[in-house]
Amino acid sequence: MTQRVLTGITTTGTPHLGNYVGAIRPAIAASREPGVESFFFLADYHALIKCDDPARIARSRLEIAATWLAAGLDTNRVTFYRQSDIPEITELNWLLTCVTAKGQMNRAHAYKASVDANVAKEEDPDAGITMGLYCYPILMAADILMFNAHRVPVGRDQVQHIEMARDVAMRFNHLYGQGKELFVLPEVEIEESVATLPGLDGRKMSKSYDNTVPLFEGGSKALKEAIARIVTDSKLPGEPKDPDSAHLVTIHDAFADAATRDAFRADLRGGLGWGEAKQRVVQLIEAHVGPMRERYADLIAHPERIEEVLQAGAAKARATATPFLSELRQAVGLRQMVAVAQAQPGKAAVRSDVPVFKQYREADGQFYFKLTSAGGDLLLQSQAFAEGREAGSWVKRFKTEGAQALAGAPVSLADGVDAATVEAALAALVAAQE
Ligand code: TRP
Repeated sequence: MTQRVLTGITTTGTPHLGNYVGAIRPAIAASREPGVESFFFLADYHALIKCDDPARIARSRLEIAATWLAAGLDTNRVTFYRQSDIPEITELNWLLTCVTAKGQMNRAHAYKASVDANVAKEEDPDAGITMGLYCYPILMAADILMFNAHRVPVGRDQVQHIEMARDVAMRFNHLYGQGKELFVLPEVEIEESVATLPGLDGRKMSKSYDNTVPLFEGGSKALKEAIARIVTDSKLPGEPKDPDSAHLVTIHDAFADAATRDAFRADLRGGLGWGEAKQRVVQLIEAHVGPMRERYADLIAHPERIEEVLQAGAAKARATATPFLSELRQAVGLRQMVAVAQAQPGKAAVRSDVPVFKQYREADGQFYFKLTSAGGDLLLQSQAFAEGREAGSWVKRFKTEGAQALAGAPVSLADGVDAATVEAALAALVAAQE
């Protein structure tokens, strides 16, 4: 079965080399594996929790989108979108908020850390804490559950959030699923094999340590300058060096094949000077990053192209989110009055008198559904879907909402059949299920 892999990228800051090696590159590689359907999105609603400077929010969204595209993300293969383009996520956020225990949010690490910091400073425990920060894990659960992701690759600091998403999903399934799993329970995925890249001083490369190497910013000049500042021991050229204790080597290895790695180590043991060693590292990274940097500059110069890609991604994501959210609304009881009014108590139709939906797959590999009358006449024909699941969600929607689902639905009336006939058939179907 296809595994859905989903991850969010909070749009604050500008990506550095550590982000590329630790997150972007492995995610793109994983998205090319067979049997995987990847959802990558810009978590710009999450960014608002951390930043209230509109210009920075806008800039960071653009730069991060351009970085992923320049790094080779294939948007025909993956679904790449902005969280804020999917209104269904915020709607789901509320449905989930209503089943989330406040006590569980009290225990969230990010919130607790802020409270602890306030207490340490002898301030009010809630000083500067917004409801956005407090409810952060629920929004994240909505991101994940909206698309029924099986796997969520994240950093260690996010593990608790995925566990919370599972809990909320379980609770929702239990309350509203009527024995059916409305939500897939997501699994956290920690990439053990992916190295964390050390920064200039040898600690983990991170903006908060101010030890980063820029990925694209400042061009090859800035790259050269940053590499020159990497801390090494003070051995002179000619003196043998220990490659295993030099984080310059770790940075080198992140861009080198096995043979290049071995040669670099051997040369350092043989006395290669640090200056020359750094030049090699610059060349190696430049060969990898240079072409990406050109694509990046081109994208930044044409933000409308990025916009177009993201709009297309949003449409793709919403093709799943819209019918699923409508199913969830039904499940919690937010239903059309019409379907309720048309149901005739005590007069449930006999199954065989009721029109039927059929789902099927054509020789073209695409999925379809159709509605036929109890007598077998074709009433309604769907268009083609790439995923059987999409056809399934529409059928489910028609069965619960009846004729209300017709507006904007990807279906057409059969020749010679009028809308009233179809509406009546759908009403009969809904009534039969009451
Ligand atoms: N909170 C995540 C982070 O800071 C980003 C994120 C938001 C996310 N929504 C998500 C990650 C959903 C995975 C799934 O890294």
